[in-house]
Amino acid sequence: MRVVIIGGTGHIGTYLVPRLVEGGHKVVSVSRGLRAPYTPHPAWEEVEMVSVDRSAEEAARTFAGSIAALKPDAVIDITCYAPESARHLVDGLRGVVGRFLHCGTIWVHGYNITVPTAENQPRVPIEEYGSRKAAIEGYLLEEARLGNFPAAVIHPGHIVGLGWPPLNPQGHFGPWVFERLARGEELALPHLGLATFHHVHAGDVAQGFMCAMEKWDHAVGESFHVVAENAVTQRGYAEAAASWFGREANLRFLPWDEWSRTVSEDEAALSLRHIRHSSHCSIAKARRLLGYEPRYTAFEATRESVDWLIRQEQILRSQSPE
Ligand SMILES: NC(=O)c1ccc[n+]([C@@H]2O[C@H](COP(=O)([O-])OP(=O)(O)OC[C@H]3O[C@@H](n4cnc5c(N)ncnc54)[C@H](OP(=O)(O)O)[C@@H]3O)[C@@H](O)[C@H]2O)c1
Repeated sequence: MRVVIIGGTGHIGTYLVPRLVEGGHKVVSVSRGLRAPYTPHPAWEEVEMVSVDRSAEEAARTFAGSIAALKPDAVIDITCYAPESARHLVDGLRGVVGRFLHCGTIWVHGYNITVPTAENQPRVPIEEYGSRKAAIEGYLLEEARLGNFPAAVIHPGHIVGLGWPPLNPQGHFGPWVFERLARGEELALPHLGLATFHHVHAGDVAQGFMCAMEKWDHAVGESFHVVAENAVTQRGYAEAAASWFGREANLRFLPWDEWSRTVSEDEAALSLRHIRHSSHCSIAKARRLLGYEPRYTAFEATRESVDWLIRQEQILRSQSPE
């Protein structure tokens, strides 16, 4: 198929585009061309790169026409964050594409009701990002249900991969947290460290999209969580990360107000967002209908990223945890 991927050079595209090429598809990657994929791959030589500024073209109402003009059989929309963007694109692609995959987020769920959270739980988003993504999901799946548009939605967890720091046990992206654990230094966690995070390796996100492309009859009109098999607790994650360096985690638990003063304002704000969600999702549906089988556990995925941080000398510049 001729597959247009909108936002193909980011975290997900870095892994998904080479898979699409290897799967025999003709791939067109749409972006502003401001960045290269995080890791090189020979498959990129076969990819048609198209430079479009989505925000500018949406403002001019030309974006959907630009995508339709690329004559796609399938469109994978990685970077849609507003219901009006989704509507504009769908209006331009109706009758043009046979498969449309939207990248959502597990944060459409907001707070947990029962865990692991299944796709059919009511959406109770707790912030604007999740609310908008839930509205996009609801719109696309309704269009598919009515037979108006062939859409499916993939909801990744906290994406981890080579080229960027993983969400850390405190719930933000500061690499210094791993440095402290590696050196056996004390690390404070908020509350009892039992909030949960649900990572996924970007390669497994790519697998989820590929499975949905291949099992389209099962995917159309549905949404799927694409995460590691299990979520991790903050405490369990910190202990595992310390063990990668032959250490026992030296943890201290603090009430939120006290803990939030031990990190920067931005880090505390990001941690609070992750803790409030405490994501913990089920992959049973993706497994059953799509044959999705994550290659990485959350610990394997985050460890790979931490090894990358070490190689990049973002942590442990001395190369020794001593
Ligand atoms: N990060 C996570 O942990 C996480 C978790 C769950 C869900 N998600 C979802 O994953 C998706 C983001 O995927 P990602 O992390 O792979 O994205 P990303 O790394 O932020 O990459 C964004 C891509 O979009 C392009 N882009 C950005 N602004 C653009 C514009 N105005 N016009 C055209 N292209 C533009 C970028 O290239 P240029 O800059 O060169 O244009 C790049 O190719 C979102 O739907 C998000 O909700 C992310």
